[in-house]
Amino acid sequence: MKAQAIEVKVELGGRSYSALVGRGVLGMAKAVVEHNRGLGNRNVLVVEKVADKLWGDYIRTALSILPGDTIVVAGGEAAKTWQRAEELLRQWIELGLGRKDWVWVAGGGATLDLVGFAAAVFQRGISWANIPTTFLAATDSCLGGKTAVNLGNLKNYAGAFHQPRVVFCETELLESLTPRQRSEGLAEVIKCGAIGNVALLGYLEPRLPDLRSGKLIPEAALAGALAVKAKLVGEDERDEGVRRHLNFGHTIAHVLERLCQPVPSHGAAVAQGMLVEGRLALELGMITRDELDYLAKLVAELKLPAIVLPEIKDALPLLSRDKKRTGSGIPFALPSPLGAAQVVEVEEKVIAKLWAKV
Ligand SMILES: NC(=O)c1ccc[n+]([C@@H]2O[C@H](COP(=O)([O-])OP(=O)(O)OC[C@H]3O[C@@H](n4cnc5c(N)ncnc54)[C@H](O)[C@@H]3O)[C@@H](O)[C@H]2O)c1
Repeated sequence: MKAQAIEVKVELGGRSYSALVGRGVLGMAKAVVEHNRGLGNRNVLVVEKVADKLWGDYIRTALSILPGDTIVVAGGEAAKTWQRAEELLRQWIELGLGRKDWVWVAGGGATLDLVGFAAAVFQRGISWANIPTTFLAATDSCLGGKTAVNLGNLKNYAGAFHQPRVVFCETELLESLTPRQRSEGLAEVIKCGAIGNVALLGYLEPRLPDLRSGKLIPEAALAGALAVKAKLVGEDERDEGVRRHLNFGHTIAHVLERLCQPVPSHGAAVAQGMLVEGRLALELGMITRDELDYLAKLVAELKLPAIVLPEIKDALPLLSRDKKRTGSGIPFALPSPLGAAQVVEVEEKVIAKLWAKV
């Protein structure tokens, strides 16, 4: 298959790397693997169970991974644990991996976080490369170097910044996803447009139904979102400044994920979070009513389930405890105007007032 790749570059000096997005890009990974092998380095693949069943042979062939150099792991949030990371480290020791070898990971965001974290701590850091197999992972977690495991119900509490060496966003692997799973990732694409590129929203507007159904190959949407993220990561790798703009919709989403039953999916929580935080941006005069309506129209096209907000008395303590808090108010990354962003500190009483209106 002839690859049609869009390259998104993360500029981090000597640690710069690219995400290659498109149909057939995995074919290019072989050259990277063979190059390492020529240098005497080993390439081991860790692949998530469902992705392995659907795409394992395809990925192994594309990478020409040697028999015996694949580890299959359970996916999802429940497997993103300290214990599972330790098991991986022990498996890598048994395989005889060393500092110069590479770990490749294929799976959803949870698997990328887990394996990236293990790679970050194995012998103080081993090279890793990733192949996202969910839409959310392909729009967000594959790039930026945030790796983590959960500690009980404390999400991402043990983690490290460890940038991958290369990312292959092979759109063919996303063909087995459901419209619902695609919408999960498209919520992040809308977020990236809302904070960093209003033209991306213009691109999405007429195409969301086809992107959701899988009729349209999503390379432009994925690359558009990754380009917004790559720019912010390049400017602020460690999430102390502009990278926090990516948090739009997520402050409220984290509260929904902690308090709502059944626990909503991340994409649904982010979609709802953008609506609430968009309304906050309107109240604070950062976006216009027309911009909010436009954002809401795009979010509605995702057809993700609406989530009933929890009681404000339960939400506020969680918002106040947000681990990204630095000042007196609660920090929110909000569009200002749509297509750009700003982090603002919002007083609790303003949030309480907002809660009554949404
Ligand atoms: N590191 C980051 O910057 C970052 C950013 C955003 C999200 N995340 C993390 O990502 C995770 C969520 O990622 P997710 O939504 O991909 O969830 P996930 O990894 O739990 O995967 C969701 C489901 O998709 C299935 N799946 C995987 N590939 C498939 C395929 N090709 N076809 C069909 N099904 C497939 C998996 O088996 C799993 O059940 C969270 O843990 C979140 O914290 C990390």
